[in-house]
Amino acid sequence: MARRRIIAGNWKMNKTPSEAVALCNELKDLVKNDAVDVVYCVPAIDICPVAEAVKGTNVHVGAENFYIEDKGAFTGEISAPMLKEAGVEYIIIGHSERRDIFGENDVLINQKVKKAFASGLTPILCCGESLALRKADTYKEWIKRQITWDLDGVTADQVKKLVIAYEPIWAIGTGETATADQAEEVCGLIRNLIAELYDQATADEVRIQYGGSMNAGNAAELLSKPNIDGGLIGGASLKPDFGKIVNA
Ligand code: 13P
Repeated sequence: MARRRIIAGNWKMNKTPSEAVALCNELKDLVKNDAVDVVYCVPAIDICPVAEAVKGTNVHVGAENFYIEDKGAFTGEISAPMLKEAGVEYIIIGHSERRDIFGENDVLINQKVKKAFASGLTPILCCGESLALRKADTYKEWIKRQITWDLDGVTADQVKKLVIAYEPIWAIGTGETATADQAEEVCGLIRNLIAELYDQATADEVRIQYGGSMNAGNAAELLSKPNIDGGLIGGASLKPDFGKIVNA
C-alpha cells in the first residue's frame, strides 16, 4: 500500500518567535507539495506564532515535548490540551536528546505515546542506537527493545496512525549520514517488528522516517528506499534546503 510521505523539521532549541515567523515566510513557497505531509516541530514559545504564520498553507505544526498530565503543579512543563488548542497536530516523543540529556526513559516515553493518542496528537516516536552499539553490532536488538517498550499497550489502530523515526545517534548533527542501505535495513526491521507485535496490515500503514544529517544532497536516495516514508530533519530544516528535501 502507498504510504503518504512525511517530511518533518525538528527545529530543536533554535529560533526566537520573530525568527520563527521569518523562517516560515522564507520557506512558504519552497515547501509546497500536495503529495507530502510537511510538519514543523518547533520550540514551545514558537508554536503560536508559527501556527499563525502557516495558516492556509500545507504546513502542519508539531511540538518537541510535552508532559503526560493535563494540568497542575508541574513547573516548566506544557500539556497536550495546551498544545492542541495552539494548533499542534504532531508531537516528537523519545528523541535521543530528551533521552540522553534530560533522562527520559522508556517508561515515560511509553506513557507519552499513550497520552498523545488519547489527546488526539500524532506521535513521532524516535528510536536509535549509539555509535558504541552500532560498533558492537547489537543495534538491531536495541532498536527492537526500544520500540517494544515504547509501544506497550498501544493498540493496532493507534499504531496505524503512528510515525516512527529511526535516528542513529551517531548520525545526528554530525554530518555523517547513515547510508541509504543502513537506514533501510533498520526501517525494514522496524516494520517487520510491527508486523510481529501487531499484524501485517498495521505494519503496512505505520510511517517510518529516517533522521540524522539528512540534507538536500542525500534525501532523494534515502527516500527512494521502500521502507523509508519520510525524514525527521534537524539542521537542514532551518534553511531553504528544507524545501529541496520536501520535494526530493
Ligand atoms: P540533524 O538533521 O541536524 O542531524 O538532526 C537530526 C535530528 O535529530 C532530527 O530529530
